[in-house]
Amino acid sequence: MAKNLVIYYSRKGQNYVNGEIVELEKGNTELIAEYIQKAVGADLFELETVKEYPADYMECTEAAKQDLRDNARPKLKEMLHDISEYDNIVIAGPCWWGTYPCAVFTQLEKLNFKGKHVFPVMTHEGSGEAKSRSELKKFCTGAKVGKALAVQGSKCPGAEEAVARWAEKNLK
Ligand SMILES: Cc1cc2nc3c(=O)[nH]c(=O)nc-3n(C[C@H](O)[C@H](O)[C@H](O)COP(=O)(O)O)c2cc1C
Repeated sequence: MAKNLVIYYSRKGQNYVNGEIVELEKGNTELIAEYIQKAVGADLFELETVKEYPADYMECTEAAKQDLRDNARPKLKEMLHDISEYDNIVIAGPCWWGTYPCAVFTQLEKLNFKGKHVFPVMTHEGSGEAKSRSELKKFCTGAKVGKALAVQGSKCPGAEEAVARWAEKNLK
C-alpha cells in the first residue's frame, strides 16, 4: 500500500467566505487535509510560521502581497527534512494571490522529491487550483506532479465525499 503524506499550511481566524468576513475555528485547508487522511490514510504535517500573519483579513492580504514582492521564505517553527519513506506527497494550502503562501516554498525548497508523486491541493475563493500545479513542477524537482484538487473555501465543510473520491482515485 502506498504511504501518503500531506504537508499543509492553513490559517485559522478571520477569512473571506462568500463575500463576508467570518471567523474560522479551523482553517479550510486543514479540514481538507483531515478528509484526505480519513479517506486513504496519511501522515499530516502542518507548516506554521514563527511570525504569525495578522489575524485581520485585510492586513493578512497585505502581508502576503509583500511576501510575494520580496520572494520571502518565512521561517517555520518546524520543518521536515526527510520524506524518503513516502510514495505520495500532497502539498495543500490556501490560494494567496494566485499561489501558495510563501511558507510552503520555505519547506519545499528543503526536501528531496526525486522519484516521488506529488499532488497539489488548493482551497480558494474563486481562483481554483490557480498556480498550484505549476509551482509544484518548479519546486519539486524530479517528482511526478499528479492531478490537482481545488475546493472553494466555503464548500470545504461539505466536501468530504468529493475529497475522498479524489484521494482514492489518485493516492495509490
Ligand atoms: C492573504 C490571502 C490572499 C488570498 N488570495 C486569494 C486569491 O488570490 N484567490 C482566491 O481565490 N482566494 C484567495 N484568498 C482566499 C483563501 O484562498 C481561502 O479563503 C482559503 O480557503 C483559506 O484557506 P485556509 O483557511 O486553509 O487558510 C486569499 C486569502 C488570504 C488570507
